[in-house]
Parts: sequence; C-alpha cells; structure tokens
Amino acid sequence: MGRTLILTDDVSRAGRLARNLGGDGDVSLHDLYGDAAPPSGAALIISDVSALTSESLRRLRQALAVVRGPETPFLALIHGNLGRGEIQASALGATKVLQASAASALLLNTVTALAAGATARPPGGGDLRHQATASRDAFVAIFRADGAPALATVESGAVLVNRAIRDAKVRDWLDVVASFDDATHRHCLSVAGLAADFARTLGLNDVDSRYLIKGALLHDIGKAKIPRAILNKPGPLTPEERCEMDRHPAIGHAMLLNGHYDALTLSVVRSHHEYLDGSGYPDGLRGQEIPDLVRLITISDIFAALIEARPYKAPKPAHEAYAILKAMGAKLDTDLVRAFGAVATACEMPYRASA
Ligand SMILES: [Fe+2]
Ligand SMILES: [Fe+2]
Repeated sequence: MGRTLILTDDVSRAGRLARNLGGDGDVSLHDLYGDAAPPSGAALIISDVSALTSESLRRLRQALAVVRGPETPFLALIHGNLGRGEIQASALGATKVLQASAASALLLNTVTALAAGATARPPGGGDLRHQATASRDAFVAIFRADGAPALATVESGAVLVNRAIRDAKVRDWLDVVASFDDATHRHCLSVAGLAADFARTLGLNDVDSRYLIKGALLHDIGKAKIPRAILNKPGPLTPEERCEMDRHPAIGHAMLLNGHYDALTLSVVRSHHEYLDGSGYPDGLRGQEIPDLVRLITISDIFAALIEARPYKAPKPAHEAYAILKAMGAKLDTDLVRAFGAVATACEMPYRASA
C-alpha cells in the first residue's frame, strides 16, 4: 500500500501504532503540536488523538486541509466516548471511525481495506452523499445542544458544506439533503448549501464563505426549544402556534449568548426574519440596522423554504421561488436578490420532493 500518515498528539503512542501496522518506512508521523509542516502525498491518513478538545480539533482540521486530497481515505481513531467521538470525526469528514483500543487485527484489516479503496466511499450515493451525511451529523450535534453548541462543531459543519458545494452542484446538494427524514435537518442544510453557493457567486473568500455558512447552520437553532408538535405539525399553524414558532429567533439568540459567538453571528440568529422596510420580527429593524450577512441569510432562508416540500405544500420550482423573492421588493436588499439570481438558476430543474 502507499504511504500512511498518522496525525497525532502523542508521537510515542503513535510510534507504537505505526509499528503495529507494520508499515516500516511507509508510515510517517506528524505531531499536531509540533512546529513541522505536515507532509503531503499520503495515500491514507489516520488520526490518533487522545482527547478531541476544541484545540485538537482545530489543529486536526488545519492539518487535514493541507494533507488530505479529495479522494484520500481518513481513519479516525477514537479514545474514550465513541458516540461523541464519532460525531466529531464525521464532522471532520472521516471515512471510517474506529475505537483506538480495537484489536490490532481489526485495525490492520481496516487500514488495509481503506488503503485499497475498498471502503473509501459508501455505495449508492457517491462522495456528495457522504459529505451531506457528515454535514447532517455535525448539524445534529449542533441542533441537539441545550445551550450554545461548541463553536468547533459548527465550524466543522461549515467546512464540510463549503467543501461539498465547492466540489458539486448546489442542485445535487439540495437533492441529497431532501432525502433526509427530518424537516429541520433538510431546511438548515439546504439554507447552508444555498448560502455556500451564494458566497461562491459573490466571490467571497473561503474564510468569509465559512462564516456565512456557519450563520446558515445556526440561524434556526432556536427551534431546538420549540415543541416538536408545532415544529413537525403536518399542516399550517394556528395563530397561537405561529406566535410560539415566531419566538425562535429570540430563543436562539439567548441560547448562543454564553457560547463565545461573535456579534454578527448573534445578529443572524436573532434577525434573519427582519425586513428592510421594518415589517419583520422580532425587533422590527429597518434598513442599515440589518447587516449584510443577515440579508444574505434571509434571502437564502426564504428561497429554501419556498423550494422545500412540506406535508401541506408542494415545493415551488426555483424560478417561481425566485420570482417571489423579487416581488418582495423593498423588504429585501434588491442588489443581493439580483445577485442571488445565479444561485436560483443553478437550482432550476424539477425539485425532488421528499416529504
Ligand atoms: Fe427562522
Ligand atoms: Fe429558516
């Protein structure tokens, strides 16, 4: 097999792992806390990190961004709680996750299979489905949070969505996401994909794109506290239920206040239902009171809701949804709506309803 690279926080432990793999000169180590740059060109990447803290996740993400090619399999070894580690590893885009204490025969078999490409991608959906599923797993970890989700988890989700939209068409992303069985997962991942494509259309750099996608992933976090009977009601809401639902921006904002989130991200969560003419909620903001980042999310959010299938409404074709955006006139930023036209066009084609 080709060269294997182990990313580790403990070189002596990883050295024992390398010897167990029997790779001799084919296995190299990279100390995530060392000064050296990670080597490129590995055929297989293994992470062996004792505790996936936000700092080690950040270092892993940075190293993976440098060493991992689009087809390079990545095996994450988890020490401690496997369930939590699996979510974190999925958010990093792991091809396979294994308990670090797994018997060496199992480890060796897994490494051999990955290196041979036998299990590098799940069957039947290809790379995009794999990426969408990993993004969904990250989103589940975000949405289940009682309070503010870990910033590292949200940033990992944003990296995954950004990479997926960079590699694929937004149309295909929406189709894959539409097959998920939870309406909130579908919606927020659709908004994130649209925001990523919007960022690409606007020529935003990677950092700004991920910032926008992070806002998209978080924008409806307040719905985590809305009763599921209202959230998943298979029909239009009563006025009382609508009132309860409309609390989600303020609830989400309160949830994130203790989570070291920046002011702009907090604005996205609180103000994504505000309109420039002051007719939105919860604060009735107007014009310049609504930052550009929020305006971008609002446009992506409305468009996503229109093209999504709901139990009580058929999905609108992209051109109809875009016509509705344009007809909203002074409520939205007309320059940004015009720019969004390229995204809407890329979404055209019959939308595969899933509900
Ligand atoms: Fe919302
Ligand atoms: Fe939304």
